[in-house]
Amino acid sequence: MRLLDYVKNDLGLSAYKDSYLLRRLNSRMVRVGTTSEEEYLKLLKTSRKELDALKDALSINVTSFFRNTEVWDKLKELLKCKSYVKIWSAACSEGREPYSLAIICEEIGTKADIIATDIDEDALNIAKKGEYSNVEEELSYLKSIDRYFTTQNGKVTVKPFLKTGIRFIKHNMISDPPPSRDFDFVLCRNFLIYVEQEHKPVIAQNIAKALKKDGILVLGKTETLPTEGFFEPLDRVNKIFRKV
Ligand SMILES: C[S@@+](CC[C@H](N)C(=O)[O-])C[C@H]1O[C@@H](n2cnc3c(N)ncnc32)[C@H](O)[C@@H]1O
Repeated sequence: MRLLDYVKNDLGLSAYKDSYLLRRLNSRMVRVGTTSEEEYLKLLKTSRKELDALKDALSINVTSFFRNTEVWDKLKELLKCKSYVKIWSAACSEGREPYSLAIICEEIGTKADIIATDIDEDALNIAKKGEYSNVEEELSYLKSIDRYFTTQNGKVTVKPFLKTGIRFIKHNMISDPPPSRDFDFVLCRNFLIYVEQEHKPVIAQNIAKALKKDGILVLGKTETLPTEGFFEPLDRVNKIFRKV
């Protein structure tokens, strides 16, 4: 099917479940009133607006600052005992997760180098810019927003000092080797839920390679990865694991 091939290959969603993609594609086609896959494919290729609407419908880039705050409380505890950490924020979308990491490290006085990766260049460009709207509620986790952001016309912009510890890099979780092999922490959250089961062992192996011994892996709260032989659970509720 050419439409599914286009979405999987050209939009970088090759790892995503076919059934999930087809459901969302059909719903967009009904919404815009296209009657054939060819017609919708043509629209996708010519209309940036529809491409963005499809990405929204697929929840591809859905993210937030301090998503699942209880996980961030736990992360703070784990990071507190370290003076320096190297962290990989994998499938970081538009950057809210790596910026959240940089903020908590700053709050607890832990120096951090963060590599933040995603397959989607548009998302990475937004991340590098560090400009966000409608994030007051997400940032209510913080005592002071002004310490980390400037606010103008309803938008917040990440202050330059927070960006210096983060490198944003394009990276495919399925086909690329890990960006480094000496990470203390890897966050890979809310990406695996969309991924076909067959890709998960490769992802688990790559994450294990990326982490130092005793390094920490954090998954999304509803996600699973084959952990046997690679990781042991540290906090089952918050999906935090230690590399064995
Ligand atoms: C729902 S977002 C998760 C963002 C963030 N980790 C969070 O929990 O808020 C999923 C991200 O996975 C990215 N993604 C999809 N396929 C990928 C792949 N093969 N390699 C790397 N990133 C991928 C998407 O571009 C998207 O930004």
